[in-house]
Amino acid sequence: MKIIGVIASESSDTNARVILNEHEEVNVKAEDLVLVENRDSSMVMAVLRSGHGSNENLRPGGYHPGVAFARVGGKPSTAKETYDFALTVIGEVGNGVKQNKKIITPGCEVRIFDDEHDPMKFLSGNGNNETIAHYEGHPNWKVPVQAKFITYHIGIFASTGGGKSYLARHQVIPLLENAGYSVLILDWKGRDYAPYYPKDRVLSISDLAFDPDTVARYLVKKMGNFGYYGSSGSVIQAVEEVVLIDKWRGLSPDEFRQMLETSVIKEVNPNKVMSGKPKEEEQRFKRGLSRLKSEDIQNILGTKKPEDLIKEVQRKNVAIVDMKKTGRDEKLAMFLTLANYLMEQMQNDEDLDLAMVIDEGPQYCPFKPDGIQNQTTEIIIDMCALGRTHKLCMCLLSQGIAGEIGINAAVRRNLNTQFVGKIHPLDMNEAANWLAPYNIDPKFLLSLPPGRFYFMGSMNVSPIPLLITFPIE
Ligand SMILES: Nc1ncnc2c1ncn2[C@@H]1O[C@H](COP(=O)(O)OP(=O)(O)OP(=O)(O)O)[C@@H](O)[C@H]1O
Ligand SMILES: [Mg+2]
Repeated sequence: MKIIGVIASESSDTNARVILNEHEEVNVKAEDLVLVENRDSSMVMAVLRSGHGSNENLRPGGYHPGVAFARVGGKPSTAKETYDFALTVIGEVGNGVKQNKKIITPGCEVRIFDDEHDPMKFLSGNGNNETIAHYEGHPNWKVPVQAKFITYHIGIFASTGGGKSYLARHQVIPLLENAGYSVLILDWKGRDYAPYYPKDRVLSISDLAFDPDTVARYLVKKMGNFGYYGSSGSVIQAVEEVVLIDKWRGLSPDEFRQMLETSVIKEVNPNKVMSGKPKEEEQRFKRGLSRLKSEDIQNILGTKKPEDLIKEVQRKNVAIVDMKKTGRDEKLAMFLTLANYLMEQMQNDEDLDLAMVIDEGPQYCPFKPDGIQNQTTEIIIDMCALGRTHKLCMCLLSQGIAGEIGINAAVRRNLNTQFVGKIHPLDMNEAANWLAPYNIDPKFLLSLPPGRFYFMGSMNVSPIPLLITFPIE
């Protein structure tokens, strides 16, 4: 391994700077990995960040001969030029990594890892066989992963177009599979996963059986609330009663429409009178019914129960629920039905060996939940808590980290492994909280190209974030 410089004065056990050898400034760059042989012969691995160049002759803000010479267009002397980088210490390496506790001695040589020397082997030591993506700039350096922390849950954050769904599809989901988990993907828009998997692994949300409460709410909404202002009214009540009896599963859309019409009219106008309130209500119902399309009915006639779905996922290893056909509340209601079932299983002390990939996380557990989101947020927190001991991994994707654009803080605290890609400027503060201690300038995150992520948290063997990427076809 090539020597690139020496440790500068003022070093400590966690921080140091390397003064680069002459001309190394053209080769060495941020995120390069280096090895320092400390005075006691221990090997300390570190990442280079926060580069810094200086030239005594070109000190700004004052007038002296070097500046004067540069001002008239002279080529400045490089005699008093130095370059240095901060070392963000990963740890002492040998068999795996451990915390470095010794002062990194000034004057020690710093060597750079090149393609022939894979630093990831140092990191993985024994027993971390799974890997994810590769270290930025080095396609053969596969980054080791501690699979035992998968059930400590995963968060993938990047602004729109940052490559979250690609990371999930190309890297995270295959990793979860290799680690022995079945993977259930909730594809909110039906665009990010469903088209990329074999057809037999994709289920439409309309194949799933909703609970009768949800069906009643959905139908009433599709029938324009029957012209009522609030959520109550005798026609609404009649529809709810018919649906809650739950004798319509397995009907065709036309049969369902027929059944609904006959049963509701029997409720609101039992004596078939031709005027007065009962007739008005019958007409109010018929007006609503005429707005109900066959596709709407099709959406609620699914028969697959949560237990059938989970069995199917386990059989096929990966399954996708394509949620494109329905509105927000129905998607969330479907999630809730499924989540309730999984909670029940875990409360009965079952191990699930399941990972749930939730794209568009803020739809389920936003900063400020509203309506049914209150329930979905609560249950996600509970699933995270129980999942740790019952082998359920929650993997949430979000365009924002915190605040209005992010996901609920209580949920976020449960996602112990994070992938952070290109962020939205509104997330600068949150990203700085996470990354500034590791010498990563949050401004650097604003300009990350798609598909570059800082990998950090419990699944990362390295205690400091590593920049990873992956090729796409
Ligand atoms: N590893 C990669 N290398 C190069 N380009 C990538 C990589 N990953 C993703 N991209 C590019 O970025 C684009 C956006 O990726 P993706 O759809 O995953 O973004 P996203 O973060 O999920 O966005 P949204 O929040 O809008 O869903 C892709 O179309 C692809 O061209
Ligand atoms: Mg996406």
